[in-house]
Amino acid sequence: MKLLTATIVASVALASHWQFAAATQPFRAQSANIERLLANSLNARADDGVKAEATFPVYTFTQPLDHFKDTGHTFEQRYWVSARNYNPNATTPVPVIVLDGGEGAGDRRFPFLDTGIVDILTKATGGLGVVLEHRYYGESIPVQNFTTDSLRWLNNEQALADSANFIANVKFPGIDADLTAPNTPWIYYGGSYAGARAAHMRTLYPDLVYGAIASSAVTVATIDNWRYTDIVRRFAPQECIKQILTTMSTVDGLLLKGGRHRAAIKQLFGMPNVTHDVDFASMLDSSIWYWQNTNWDPGYGDPRFFAFCDDIGKPDNKQVEIAPGIKVNSAVPKYANHMIKNYVSQCTPPSTQDECFGTFDPEGYSADDISQSWRLWGFQVCTQWGYFLPPPPEGIPSLRSRLITLDYDSKSCRLAYPPGEHFKVPAWPDVNSVNKLGGFNIAADRLAFIDGEADPWRSNTPHADQAKPRKDTIQRPFKYLPGAVHHWDENGLSDPSAEPPLIQKIHQQQIAFVKAWLKDFKRPA
Ligand SMILES: *[C@@H]1O[C@H](CO)[C@@H](O)[C@H](O)[C@H]1NC(C)=O
Ligand SMILES: *[C@@H]1O[C@H](CO)[C@@H](O)[C@H](O)[C@H]1NC(C)=O
Ligand SMILES: *[C@@H]1O[C@H](CO)[C@@H](O)[C@H](O)[C@H]1NC(C)=O
Repeated sequence: MKLLTATIVASVALASHWQFAAATQPFRAQSANIERLLANSLNARADDGVKAEATFPVYTFTQPLDHFKDTGHTFEQRYWVSARNYNPNATTPVPVIVLDGGEGAGDRRFPFLDTGIVDILTKATGGLGVVLEHRYYGESIPVQNFTTDSLRWLNNEQALADSANFIANVKFPGIDADLTAPNTPWIYYGGSYAGARAAHMRTLYPDLVYGAIASSAVTVATIDNWRYTDIVRRFAPQECIKQILTTMSTVDGLLLKGGRHRAAIKQLFGMPNVTHDVDFASMLDSSIWYWQNTNWDPGYGDPRFFAFCDDIGKPDNKQVEIAPGIKVNSAVPKYANHMIKNYVSQCTPPSTQDECFGTFDPEGYSADDISQSWRLWGFQVCTQWGYFLPPPPEGIPSLRSRLITLDYDSKSCRLAYPPGEHFKVPAWPDVNSVNKLGGFNIAADRLAFIDGEADPWRSNTPHADQAKPRKDTIQRPFKYLPGAVHHWDENGLSDPSAEPPLIQKIHQQQIAFVKAWLKDFKRPA
């Protein structure tokens, strides 16, 4: 997913030129396959390696490879600055608003610097806007390859220490004033994984991070994260969900019957030569992950979930004969056509179908040069975060085939990261290393949580159904956005009055509580 080259000329047109909301999809057995398949197709999207003409100046900050042990190695961490709203004469203390780049190239976050949350908050406060790239992503790469050993400095502790070191020591080029913390109030913003980081930064480094906004913050690491797809099932358009459920139960039923039933359904989906049924079945959920990237701004959101729903149509009671004596609901052939058009057709000779869709050959995971950016979030998942998505417990309808198991979905952890000389990926991710920082209960003054009702990641946030209710206060804002999906407050429009009322309102609330926080700021004696 690193093919798309966006050339941005005018910063005003930036958001609408940007190719789709970029949120990392769940890491699962088919992730590496899907990435390879779509890399060459029209479906390629701007994930890592976006090469945009710089509309904000890029700088670098020198970080140690290891904050806790001297290795003698350093690397250059990229950051971008927007000084367009910076006003050192503002009466309130002038903040730095830093947006955490999270698990992707920092230049993917330009829309947030241009018309999104960073621009909104700096405009309201006279603050300086910054996007800080996460170690190992984009071009902030401290190593020469992505072998298991080389990835061992990619962990939460090191990446949090990068941000702390930056906040305490950065000297912004062209700005005379010393804007480091604790003498300057820093407000740390993040969405999704970066949202969890915002919460962690506020609680672990309270003297450096004066306030933080944690949007769709996945502060709860989970090995069996079945609730993700269950939120898609409950909140995505219901006719579409019904078509998916009909298809999945039909496919599972025919595979279970075996023989010519099994052959007929694989043939219908154009995947007769995929050896393992679970590989075939797990390909079929490839389009449901796009739900999390839907957005209130059609110019920014990923249109592919809705295109998928259009393809599979509305429920009816029509039966279609797919082989002599084998009839299925009309949803199934429509679903098959969607799969063929978008995925199966991308697999062309000399590649075999097992090479494209199979997950059992370790060779398929062996490339470990720095172009293999899928290895980065995968490594974080396998070592600390989990987030595997097997089907829900029996009795709850499943958007994924019931052939998929936790072992199957986590197999990349074992196949892609063979033990190194210095580091071994644990048998299961050490989710406690994340959850001990607070999990569902993480809280602090001047730490805001913003979540969307229909966000599949909500079950990993303090707004999960299974978390304790909280009060929403100025000191501890706790905002729940009905109908919203993943960090919908992060992007904005150059004309805020054109935003939907829900989005205008949350942006106004964010301005209000950040200003209230800044009023209380006192420089340390
Ligand atoms: C801030 O005040 C100084 C001194 O009065 C002035 O020279 C400068 O232009 C002002 N800067 C802004 C951004 O208003
Ligand atoms: C990976 O890079 C390290 C240095 O960063 C080097 O020592 C090692 O030999 C490389 N391994 C491979 C397999 O390229
Ligand atoms: C499946 O394999 C057969 C036999 O090798 C081959 O002729 C056919 O083209 C393959 N079909 C697909 C869709 O790959």
